[in-house]
Amino acid sequence: MPVSALRPSPPPHSTETTSEGSFRALFEAEQRKSQRLRALVALGTALAATLDLDELLDKALTLALEFSGHDQGSLMLLAPERKSLTVQAAVGGDLSRLHSVIPVAGGSVASWVLRRKRPLYLEGRAESLTHVPRAYSKDLPSSISLPLLKPPRQAIGVVSLNATRQAAHLSPDDIEVLQIMANQLAIALDNADLYRRLQIKEQQLQEAATRLVHAQEEERRRVAYDIHDGLAQMLVGTYQRLQAFQGRRPGRAREAKEELSGLQDQFRRSLEEVRRVIADLRPSSLDDFGLERSLQQYLAEAGREAGWSVQFTFATGGLVLLPHCEATIFRILQEAVSNARKHAHSPRLLVKVARRAHHLVIEVRDWGNGFDVDTSRHAAGPGQRVGLMGMAERATVMGGAFQIKSQPGKGTQVMVRFPLEAIAGLERKNP
Ligand SMILES: Nc1ncnc2c1ncn2[C@@H]1O[C@H](COP(=O)(O)OP(=O)(O)OP(=O)(O)O)[C@@H](O)[C@H]1O
Ligand SMILES: [Mg+2]
Repeated sequence: MPVSALRPSPPPHSTETTSEGSFRALFEAEQRKSQRLRALVALGTALAATLDLDELLDKALTLALEFSGHDQGSLMLLAPERKSLTVQAAVGGDLSRLHSVIPVAGGSVASWVLRRKRPLYLEGRAESLTHVPRAYSKDLPSSISLPLLKPPRQAIGVVSLNATRQAAHLSPDDIEVLQIMANQLAIALDNADLYRRLQIKEQQLQEAATRLVHAQEEERRRVAYDIHDGLAQMLVGTYQRLQAFQGRRPGRAREAKEELSGLQDQFRRSLEEVRRVIADLRPSSLDDFGLERSLQQYLAEAGREAGWSVQFTFATGGLVLLPHCEATIFRILQEAVSNARKHAHSPRLLVKVARRAHHLVIEVRDWGNGFDVDTSRHAAGPGQRVGLMGMAERATVMGGAFQIKSQPGKGTQVMVRFPLEAIAGLERKNP
């Protein structure tokens, strides 16, 4: 590795014999070697164990200072436009340099190191050096600046270590180890940056999904109101007119009377269907009564129609759910219950919404036909059997985990676990 270094000649050991001297030198060299290894292992361990970026930078700087015998360190990272360096971590000395910005175009040591992608080790004043920039005016016993190089040799920043009390007398081997440490740190920083960007993306996706659910619910609500205020009112009006017409013309022919009452029947059924569609589009009771009572009403009705005995538990301990989460939970339960009604033929049904330490768990269980979950997943054609998929998707959008267990003849259990922080608003003061 090319290393620029100014080193004084070592002081002579005049009182030692030659063999004592070489033995001591050998011993010190071995000690230094194991020190180098320990420094690398310590950095590797710190990089693997620390998730917090600031803590990681401080730890890496401290380890580099310890190993190199310097007492002040800064770590600078290149801005995305690559025109300036910002001090991201500082250990020892005046910490006001933290967050200061150094232009890359200037004549600083950091820019020199960054441009040449080489470490620069200096002992004593540097003004006498021809290869060091003019603006350099450190008056220190020793200092070393190292580029942070990520593969394939892309410089993303600089580590600068200063000794303010006495020169550290680094050997080329020491400098090589420090450069390996800087490169390791560069990879860790790059990974941390990737991870951070991924987290931001994930958060943006989550927010977009939430907005989508919101928009979908809003749209459903609007359509429900439109149908309720428009089509449903017209149907009611026409039905009433039919009734009035029948009342005014009692003596008509038998066929006409039968036809009329057939029409009335058809109208009544149409009205019921429209009401069902409205309720399905937007369980308006959710706005008026909240999730618990809406579910109670829905299950009472579904139970009546299916002839079930329904066991319903709602134990959320005062948890206030975000409105779009209430709608999501209602829809998942609605589909699971509707599946039980359509496919299970179970004598009873259990529906549970319960708060655990960190989750809200919802469960629908029947003791009916059951089915083979894996086979069913592949058996559907386009547009068919979207219920299970829809439940799983709705759960995922809200950060939940969807699970279905079923066996032919043994019934079905649908379970979703939502992390509380993803679905809860503020706690109710008096649960
Ligand atoms: N509780 C249940 N008991 C028995 N079989 C079930 C149950 N739930 C789902 N199934 C089986 O899984 C299949 C897929 O369910 P899914 O809800 O995806 O579709 P679907 O109910 O047939 O149609 P839709 O798209 O209208 O919901 C069903 O056709 C049925 O065979
Ligand atoms: Mg279904």
